Amino acid sequence: RWPECVQIREVGPRDGLQNEPGFVPTAVKLDWIGRLADAGLSYIEVTSFVSPKWIPPLADAEEVAAGLRRREGVTYAALVPNMRGLERALRSGIDEAAVFMSASETHNRRNINKSIGETLPVLREVTAAAKAAGKTVRGYLSTVFGCPYEGAVDTQQVVRLTEALLEMGVREVSLGDTIGIGHPRQVEAVLEELLGRVPPDRLALHFHDTNGLALANTVVALQMGIRTFDASCGGLGGCPYAPGAAGNVATGDLIRMLHAMGVRTGVDEAGLSEASAYILQALARTGGDPGAAAGDCL
Ligand code: HMG
Ligand code: MG
Repeated sequence: RWPECVQIREVGPRDGLQNEPGFVPTAVKLDWIGRLADAGLSYIEVTSFVSPKWIPPLADAEEVAAGLRRREGVTYAALVPNMRGLERALRSGIDEAAVFMSASETHNRRNINKSIGETLPVLREVTAAAKAAGKTVRGYLSTVFGCPYEGAVDTQQVVRLTEALLEMGVREVSLGDTIGIGHPRQVEAVLEELLGRVPPDRLALHFHDTNGLALANTVVALQMGIRTFDASCGGLGGCPYAPGAAGNVATGDLIRMLHAMGVRTGVDEAGLSEASAYILQALARTGGDPGAAAGDCL
């Protein structure tokens, strides 16, 4: 019932920094990403090729991609909303494009300024073009467990859109608890529906930890066969277009729980703690709130 190992997708440099009030200097971002790779993380989402007007903290996406101290065996991914973003990502040599949309209309509209119906063809075109350029593509579905504007989200809509993303050719769909309101019983119910249609190795879970339930939710997903989890070093994160969202589950908390359970992650706890302390100190200098994630630097 418990796996021998799980894969962690580190989203700190993207999800973690996109919501920060201050601009973290590019050199600090690059140093942090280097430390994350050195700690053994084999997948790092390093930035977003979105509009710098919408997400100013990641306006240096090109500089981040160009400055990466690449470590062999590490996949460096970035968020891509449209063809303009894909062109930027391809010019920058990113390994994997992550396309994204929401399961609820209002969050989709607030986040990417389109209806769900208008978004699907855009993501289809981006996915096809990324694959034609030899890249892999990951898909995010947000607001799977609830929407900050609409409340409850229909699980059948989640199933339909997950299948639509997979049919486009994304490698895996990351199911986002964007505002961290999902609970273990709900995770079980949503996964029961999905796993009737989609194999577990095509799914990842992306828990934000607003209510402190991310690890409990992770345990349920593990028991149901999910083997890939997103996490953020320092527990940073949040979506500017999802009021009330807290950070992602802290990578340090996640790996400590998994290691204690005898599940391998390939991530070194001490190295991760150092990377976490490094970025929290840097954020303290740029006016962020490192207190929220202090537990990750144990
Ligand atoms: P729009 O304003 O509708 O776009 O934004 P547009 O196509 O009308 O273009 C308007 C302007 O933006 C133009 O520039 C375009 O060139 C420019 P202007 O002529 O005004 O100078 N533009 C771009 N510039 C750079 N890169 C691009 C790009 N595209 C257009 N790629 C858009 C539409 C999607 C661009 C915008 O809404 C946007 O950038 N949204 C991003 C929002 C975002 O990043 N949210 C956070 C990430 S999602 C998340 O956090 C959830 C997740 O973690 C999972 C979970 O927790 O659930 C993934
Ligand atoms: Mg997120």
